[in-house]
Amino acid sequence: MANILRKWVENDQREVNRIGKIADKVMDHEEEYAALSDEELQAKTPAFKERLANGETLDDILPEAFAVAREGAKRVLGLFPFRVQIIGGITLHEGNIAEMKTGEGKTLTATMPVYLNALAGHGVHVVTVNEYLSSRDATEMGELYNWLGLSVGLNLNSKSSEEKREAYLADITYSTNSELGFDYLRDNMVVYKEQMVQRELNYAIVDEVDSILIDEARTPLIISGGAEKSTGMYIRADRFVKQLKEEEDYKIDWPTKTISLTESGIRKAEENFGLDNLYDTENTALTHHLDQALRANYIMLNDIDYMVQDGKVLIVDQFTGRAMEGRRFSDGLHQAIEAKEGVEIEDESQTMANITYQNFFRMYNKLSGMTGTAKTEEEEFREIYNMNVVSIPTNRPIARVDAPDVLYPSLDAKFEAVAEDIRERHEKGQPIWSGPLRLNPVNV
Ligand SMILES: Nc1ncnc2c1ncn2[C@@H]1O[C@H](COP(=O)(O)OP(=O)(O)OP(=O)(O)O)[C@@H](O)[C@H]1O
Ligand SMILES: [Mg+2]
Repeated sequence: MANILRKWVENDQREVNRIGKIADKVMDHEEEYAALSDEELQAKTPAFKERLANGETLDDILPEAFAVAREGAKRVLGLFPFRVQIIGGITLHEGNIAEMKTGEGKTLTATMPVYLNALAGHGVHVVTVNEYLSSRDATEMGELYNWLGLSVGLNLNSKSSEEKREAYLADITYSTNSELGFDYLRDNMVVYKEQMVQRELNYAIVDEVDSILIDEARTPLIISGGAEKSTGMYIRADRFVKQLKEEEDYKIDWPTKTISLTESGIRKAEENFGLDNLYDTENTALTHHLDQALRANYIMLNDIDYMVQDGKVLIVDQFTGRAMEGRRFSDGLHQAIEAKEGVEIEDESQTMANITYQNFFRMYNKLSGMTGTAKTEEEEFREIYNMNVVSIPTNRPIARVDAPDVLYPSLDAKFEAVAEDIRERHEKGQPIWSGPLRLNPVNV
């Protein structure tokens, strides 16, 4: 263990040294750019774009572009990125994870790689866990980007497709992870290409990267649709087929388990539903419901094919004879059986599209992230996403005391200890703030 720890620290040190040399090149431009007028500094943006168009790479222009973003931040936001923040920014540009302690200024750190990568014109996504953070960062950092001549879009759940498309077309787009994923799924379901809202998934910087890419990695985003409201149709079809007589109105072929209406049955159906011709194309929905009602009533047997329990129809496993919880017959048969048995008919909901965060984020050409704690998940980040975790030193020595975790055998024991601690402090006359108790909602 000690060896592994030493290796971590040494590797980090080496990375930080390597990146530090690039950071020094950024800082070399400090005085030169401080002497520029606002207009001269702003003119750098189109100049960089032209150099990229003429074949220079993002890495070539990194020191200058970072220096421009830095000087811009000083003038527009009143914040001048520290050297460690430049190192964090380079880490993000390189598609890795910058581990920076809380309060070290990750928001400002991201502005430099965001600016650099946005110059290429393929879009940069800044991903946060909630809309409050997206809105805050888009507004506050947006001032800087706009000043530097880049456009900023904010993708919110409440926006229309039109507004979303505009947000995605911006040079820089702020969004939550869930909205990005759902927009991707919805884009996969459109009929015409013009209806899509996203363009290519080029470069993403994920804030609180451990919670999105590790804790929620396997959370599937699911779009289920077409909850077809045809409950009434199932009931009417059911009532009708219950009046029919075997052989006269319908025939069953048991070997193939098929059932069909006879001439007489068809006539009765046309009378009952007031139709000229049951097999007209406009009546296909009805014939489908009739077919399923016939199967439900005369082929599917209670306590053999299915069973009814607590007002629910459950499929019986043909091999084990056990009820299969949560499974449903497809194609409306389950609803037809529910109508037959007089229990509540559940909506049809079909999964139209789904993806996990892990698979979604792996589609980006370049992925990076920042967080206060990632070192413990370093292995997973490398294996799953091919990202390295670089621990960035703090700007100044940490004054805060980070106490080690205290573990209790049970929740009761924990509350006992808390109560005891409160009693001791109270006796000393120390004020106590009781914040919301966080019972580790993640990974419960
Ligand atoms: N270079 C800087 N100079 C002065 N203040 C700075 C600088 N960088 C960041 N700050 C300030 O530090 C504070 C914390 O920044 P920020 O919220 O980005 O931290 P963070 O690392 O994202 O923290 P958390 O882990 O809590 O999200 C902000 O008020 C910000 O304005
Ligand atoms: Mg933050």
